[in-house]
Amino acid sequence: MLRRIGTAAAVTGALGVAGLVYASVVERNWFRLRHYEIPILAPGSDRLRILHLSDAHLTPGRRLLIDWIRSLDAHNPDLVVNTGDSLAHPQAVKPFLDALGPLLDRPGLFVYGSNDLFSPQPKNPARYLWRSSKADYRKRKIPDLPWRELGAAMREAGWLDLNNQKGHLTAGNLRIAAAGIHDSHIGLDRYEKIAGPADPTADVRIGVMHSPEPRNLDRFTADGYELLLAGHTHGGQICLPFYGTLVTNCGIDRARAWGLSRNGTSWLHVSGGLGTSPYAPVRFCCRPEAALLDLIPRA
Ligand SMILES: [Fe+2]
Repeated sequence: MLRRIGTAAAVTGALGVAGLVYASVVERNWFRLRHYEIPILAPGSDRLRILHLSDAHLTPGRRLLIDWIRSLDAHNPDLVVNTGDSLAHPQAVKPFLDALGPLLDRPGLFVYGSNDLFSPQPKNPARYLWRSSKADYRKRKIPDLPWRELGAAMREAGWLDLNNQKGHLTAGNLRIAAAGIHDSHIGLDRYEKIAGPADPTADVRIGVMHSPEPRNLDRFTADGYELLLAGHTHGGQICLPFYGTLVTNCGIDRARAWGLSRNGTSWLHVSGGLGTSPYAPVRFCCRPEAALLDLIPRA
């Protein structure tokens, strides 16, 4: 009997180690490019290809991730959208800009996530399954990551800073009205600064945020933004086979934790994210991802 219990314990232990190695070494570097077509343009318009990047949580040593992001330029996006959490290290700005590489020469939009401001803290990697990371920020008042430097570099490249701001840009042959908010996960969202009907004369109206909080999604939709882009959820990061996402780490429902869905009359794309906190370096049944969103004419 004791021998059987010992064997069972050894097998369970070996499976646990194998699962951890798979989640931290294999799946965490098994990048996936998702592809969607979204019929929101006026009939007869040219299609517009958006590359949606989010949650790289970059540390300087992540060469595979850096090279993969850089390779995405080959898909010829007309517009790049970065929904934040790009950094996870004080020296990560240069590697992140290196990852963007030729993508910086394309039109772009960006917002920050909490992790662009505050460095990651050691924690139980599975803690988010029972507790939102929101509480971790309550005692942290002073940002300690170089978010200003990151934003300055993206603005210098011509990307539109949408942190509680709005503006216009041209991508492909289309004129885009875009608005965004800073991260609601740390209470820096100020929707009132961008509130009001989206420009009806633009070819397409895009709302951008880090965390897909329903109260903000609904305000963008009510103001007429027909495409909403967000990240933050990591798609759940540790998911269950045949069940999927366990938690979203914000107010959105599990069914919309990643991928394309509807929010009333708007389309919503939530990126499952490219990375992980260096203190939770595992992904399970939830491969790191970026997405190509081809906006096409309505039928
Ligand atoms: Fe993130």
